[in-house]
Amino acid sequence: MEHISDDTIASYGVGALGLGILVLVVIYALQGRVRIEPGRANKTVPRWTPFERVLHWYVAILFIVLAVTGLGLLFGRMTLLPGAGQEAFTAWANLAVSIHNLLGPAFAAGVLVMIVLWMRNNIPARYDWEFFKQGGGFVTGRYPPAGKVNAGNKLFVYWLGLVIAGTIVCVSGLILEFPDYGQSAQTMQLSSTLHLIGALAWTLIILGHAYLGSLGVEGAFEAMTCGRVDVNFAKQHHDMWAEELMQMGVTPQSSQTLEESIDDP
Ligand code: HEM
Repeated sequence: MEHISDDTIASYGVGALGLGILVLVVIYALQGRVRIEPGRANKTVPRWTPFERVLHWYVAILFIVLAVTGLGLLFGRMTLLPGAGQEAFTAWANLAVSIHNLLGPAFAAGVLVMIVLWMRNNIPARYDWEFFKQGGGFVTGRYPPAGKVNAGNKLFVYWLGLVIAGTIVCVSGLILEFPDYGQSAQTMQLSSTLHLIGALAWTLIILGHAYLGSLGVEGAFEAMTCGRVDVNFAKQHHDMWAEELMQMGVTPQSSQTLEESIDDP
């Protein structure tokens, strides 16, 4: 494979991340927040266990720190060096490398647990095709059928993000961090290129995911904080899953009960 320089990857990376942020700003400006259409039922159903939530935020926080230190190193030469000067830049670069290398293996372990834990939720279902045909609801304005995890999340966040980009970024990162196992210079070079491209692509996916999981969709964020969602959110965005819960005899609890249980020590 012909060598692609870090600067070339950095230039395309800036363009892609900038464009990604612009697209999200335009989507938000055009359609605002996706509301729970009938309003809240003020009754909630369980969605993510405490273990799943701790794991999610462990991986997410490490992802952010690794992205900031990684992108800081990649783009730092162009952006920080001219203003900060050589000495300050070198100090920052050393600190960023130390943090990045310290957290990298801990992040890789979290990613592995996430892949195993959530594989079952992300197996494609027959109705998932309908989700894409309807453009995830953005195109038709109707809410397509979805199980516990919708088809967009399955494809982008789980399979392309966690499984493919996650494997490429974590394995190449470990090869770069522990070079004493007889890797050739060529393997190191290839790992470096794949690490950068994989990390940039994954960051792009996570930008979209973080937007939809917070500002973009009413009712989503509390799923990963409190672990429960409003019944009307479940019916609107995950109709097949909501039906499954009802068939399993899960009774929605009033939100009052939820607040009381959160206040409990
Ligand atoms: C940085 C900010 C992030 C925010 C605000 C965020 C928010 C959320 C929320 C609210 C959910 C639950 C959605 C629902 O139940 O409907 C969720 C699920 C999930 N998140 Fe994140 N997240 C972030 C970062 C990440 C990162 C860095 C990763 C992986 C590297 C990740 C992977 C996942 C996965 C795999 C799911 C479950 C869906 C599935 O099983 O595929 N998230 N996130």
